Amino acid sequence: MQISIQKTKVSRLGSVDFNDLPFGKIKSDHMFVVDYSSGRWHDARIVPFDHISLSPANSALHYGQSIFEGMKSQIDSRGVPLIFRPEQNLKRLNLSAQRMCMPVLPEKLFLEGLKKLISIDKGWIPEGSGKSLYIRPFMFATDDSVGVKVSESYMFIIFTSPVSPYYNQPLKIKVADKYVRAFDGGVGAAKAAGNYGASMLPTKEAYGQGYHQVMWMDGHEFKYIEETGTTNVFFVIGDRVITPALDGNILDGITRKSCIQLLEDKGVHVEQKRVDINEIIEASKNGILNDAFCTGTAASVVHIELFNYRGNDIILPNVAERKWSNYLGEKLDNIKCGIEADKHGWILEVNETQSA
Ligand SMILES: Cc1ncc(COP(=O)(O)O)c(C=O)c1O
Repeated sequence: MQISIQKTKVSRLGSVDFNDLPFGKIKSDHMFVVDYSSGRWHDARIVPFDHISLSPANSALHYGQSIFEGMKSQIDSRGVPLIFRPEQNLKRLNLSAQRMCMPVLPEKLFLEGLKKLISIDKGWIPEGSGKSLYIRPFMFATDDSVGVKVSESYMFIIFTSPVSPYYNQPLKIKVADKYVRAFDGGVGAAKAAGNYGASMLPTKEAYGQGYHQVMWMDGHEFKYIEETGTTNVFFVIGDRVITPALDGNILDGITRKSCIQLLEDKGVHVEQKRVDINEIIEASKNGILNDAFCTGTAASVVHIELFNYRGNDIILPNVAERKWSNYLGEKLDNIKCGIEADKHGWILEVNETQSA
């Protein structure tokens, strides 16, 4: 499909302070938009980032057929934009789409639109430690009709935002003991907007008590650890590295799978299993809970300082002593900005001649 390009007449780039990038607030000049109706995607275009007009009867607003992704781009020493594993985000977007009864997006359309957009807004990719261009692809229903049914029309958009790190300190985490994020047969494995809407109240309550995040537990017994509101989680007990298995209720994180691969490369087997909170408490009591960390695109690899479980704190060792989270954080950052060799073919280079 041909992608039409309408560039902005006045770039906002000059007005941005790249030393002050509150996460997600600043949007780059352009966005990629595609419409879906009558059973096909059409009118692929790059246009200036702007408001869109929707009917008050827009079905996504009422019934929640809305899904999204998050990716990042960084620039390498040659000035080439690099995108980390975008085909994995498309794969997950399409899984989310299937679960939410929405149309899947063809890979070629996604990648071509993405590369053109990043190439055009290349100047918006910030340089400097931990900074990157956050990429937000999303799809939502656009039927103009009140009536609970599958929408027949959709819009897919990608816009971007220069960002600093999402978290700038080790996390204090509240273990959920009242609310549940996902349940068997539900939409926990989908990156569906409603999952995040449902997490707002518990997260606000946790913030109010001085925590940065909620750690979600299984909905049957509140016994097995799932993930946090924005990341997957890993634990190191003695020499064992453990992470909750993909049970259909958690997100198949791209940072999670990359960390598992990087650890396997070092000869470390990662146990993907049901993680009983009592195993973590026991390890902490025995002095062998050596590390706990969160992984996600926005967050990268971030240390956990403590968990609060039913009023008691489980405290983790000093961050300087955390072997694997420190290793993974540095290794991944270096791969993403091209300092380290991309052994696994995770990086998509945006070459201007192929995409502009
Ligand atoms: C609920 C949840 N779990 C896990 C993740 C981590 O996924 P990824 O590493 O693909 O960003 C995210 C972020 O996307 C998330 O929102």
